[in-house]
Amino acid sequence: MGWWLSRALWLSALAVVAAGAQAQQLSPGFYNATCPALQAVVRRGVARAVRREPRMGASILRLFFHDCFVNGCDASVLLDDVPGNFTGEKNSGPNANSLRGYEVIDAIKAQVEASCNATVSCADILALAARDAVNLLGGPSWTVPLGRRDARNTSMNAANTNLPPPDASLSTLLSMFRAKGLDARDLTALSGAHTVGQARCAVFRSHIYNDTATNATFAADLRANVCPFTGGDANLAPLDPQAPNAFDNGYFRDLVARRVLLRSDQALYGSGGGNGTTDALVRAYAANGTAFAADFAAAMVRMGSLVGSGGEVRLNCRRVN
Ligand code: HEM
Repeated sequence: MGWWLSRALWLSALAVVAAGAQAQQLSPGFYNATCPALQAVVRRGVARAVRREPRMGASILRLFFHDCFVNGCDASVLLDDVPGNFTGEKNSGPNANSLRGYEVIDAIKAQVEASCNATVSCADILALAARDAVNLLGGPSWTVPLGRRDARNTSMNAANTNLPPPDASLSTLLSMFRAKGLDARDLTALSGAHTVGQARCAVFRSHIYNDTATNATFAADLRANVCPFTGGDANLAPLDPQAPNAFDNGYFRDLVARRVLLRSDQALYGSGGGNGTTDALVRAYAANGTAFAADFAAAMVRMGSLVGSGGEVRLNCRRVN
């Protein structure tokens, strides 16, 4: 064998080992033999929660985004702090008094453990639950690749630095998504998640008081009825006022009409950044709900492929084994 050939083989073997060490191979049938009831159990759990409170569908979807953007989709977001010993993501800036749905995942995990002990990762349960939440609110469904492992560690700082802030400009959003291997189309489609759920006055105050391009009636109504200049930080408004619990393309029509809560949302349309790429996508999704649904599903699979660095199958999603 020539030296170049043996060197090439050695290098490619090294690449496979390196990739194997970093990335788990995901496949939709990962639990077919070991936990055939999994998908039905998760769907039942999400359906129960959404029936009780429709907003919970939105909250579970956001939980998955906040998991995947911080060290990959490894259920690190679900780890409870251990006072004096461990500080995780739950009390980070973007998550404290904001992220919700932990109890729903706990309840589903308990059900899954009852039929398939020590088999299914919390990260996979969250990936399935997010898909089911979207679908139960009227959005698309998709096949979820499985086989993620649960993190054994994380940090509050990782959440503070990896999750985009609500006042982010388009260039910040694009670069934070690019850092995860996601492009302008993924960013625009995934932001369509804001067609469901609610936000607190504290995160949209500066947009409705300071950003003059915002629809005047929309902003005045929020200022008068939901979000005073001081106080009322926890008051809620729907991210898509037309249909807050329906996973449709209404959010994109809101963007075109400049009737959205977050500065980071409006940055996708009419901000003059990104060479108009996101403007064109927003217009396309506003006009065509089917195109949005297809791109959203594909982008969720891509975001869901941001796997972590290995770990374990946690028995309780709140703590390492
Ligand atoms: C593009 C950057 C993003 C920013 C800056 C952002 C920011 C925010 C903020 C500030 C809130 C309100 C939180 C509160 O007031 O407590 C929120 C809510 C929400 N976000 Fe995002 N988000 C982004 C992308 C995403 C993505 C990619 C998804 C999912 C794929 C998502 C899903 C949601 C959902 C569903 C809610 C409502 C949650 C609920 O009602 O409990 N967001 N987001």
